[in-house]
Amino acid sequence: MEQGGNGKQKGKRKSLRDSVVWITGASSGIGEAMAYDFSRMGARIILSARRTDELERVKRNCEGPEENIRIIPLDLSETDSLTGKASEAIACWGEVDVLLNNGGMSQRALAAEAEMPVIRRIMEVNFFGTIALTQAILPHFIARKSGYVIVISSVMGKIGTKYRSTYAASKHALQGWYDCLRQEMYEHDVDVSLVCPGFVKTSITLNSLTADGKTYARMGDGQSKAMSAETFSRKLIPKLEKRKAEIFIGGPEIATVWLKRLSPALLNAVLKRAKVT
Ligand SMILES: NC(=O)c1ccc[n+]([C@@H]2O[C@H](COP(=O)([O-])OP(=O)(O)OC[C@H]3O[C@@H](n4cnc5c(N)ncnc54)[C@H](OP(=O)(O)O)[C@@H]3O)[C@@H](O)[C@H]2O)c1
Repeated sequence: MEQGGNGKQKGKRKSLRDSVVWITGASSGIGEAMAYDFSRMGARIILSARRTDELERVKRNCEGPEENIRIIPLDLSETDSLTGKASEAIACWGEVDVLLNNGGMSQRALAAEAEMPVIRRIMEVNFFGTIALTQAILPHFIARKSGYVIVISSVMGKIGTKYRSTYAASKHALQGWYDCLRQEMYEHDVDVSLVCPGFVKTSITLNSLTADGKTYARMGDGQSKAMSAETFSRKLIPKLEKRKAEIFIGGPEIATVWLKRLSPALLNAVLKRAKVT
């Protein structure tokens, strides 16, 4: 029996092009690029983020049929609203097949200086909002004995570097939560994939929060030289079709994940000397 990383028989799964895919963080960067690829493939997509004008722009730029694209604005930090948003999403076509949890924000602050409300804000969006939205759609997936939960985590969900303590904490928390969820979902035929990108050239660093909650408003060195969101999306989608439990896409920084497993001491020695911005 041929099985992917999530254990369900391949033949029983819907292909992504035949799916309803709900994408958070669809107003820019990785989510935007994935929206274009999914719509080009013929998938029905639901675009979510806070900025409705940007979601409208993404919808206009999609190549697929207009009737295949819906918009549901949402704020991941407003967790009480997310059950209602899931009902709205299901009502679009009577079903959701894939939840792509991509919306998130980063950080540029020393751990010793980051203010607690800012720490809470990042955790609200990246962790609590993401898991609350997943909880909101899970009864639908479980009732249908079918569904696919994707989470865009990060290499920072596996290692830690300077200036990203809360961001790394939020992504490590996602790793733990979704690893547990995967085990619980086997009996319901619901798949869970954690995606760990390295650097991708998007606005993530521009939008990241400083110690006192201001926007960092500078492009990170890693991001500015990295692959585009379009390249990232094209690399990711074939891997999602296989529903692997974990997916790594990026440049040399991905090696840090393997180095941590092989020799945490050596990774620490490398990171201590590295110029991290
Ligand atoms: N770029 C990288 O190098 C990199 C590396 C590893 C992981 N990632 C992950 O990839 C994901 C996408 O980031 P990106 O690189 O594409 O950055 P981005 O261009 O800044 O996109 C972030 C997206 O998240 C949405 N978002 C932010 N706060 C939100 C909130 N409170 N509620 C709902 N949506 C919210 C934003 O939309 P609105 O502002 O319209 O709400 C935007 O669409 C993130 O989870 C990030 O951690 C990125």
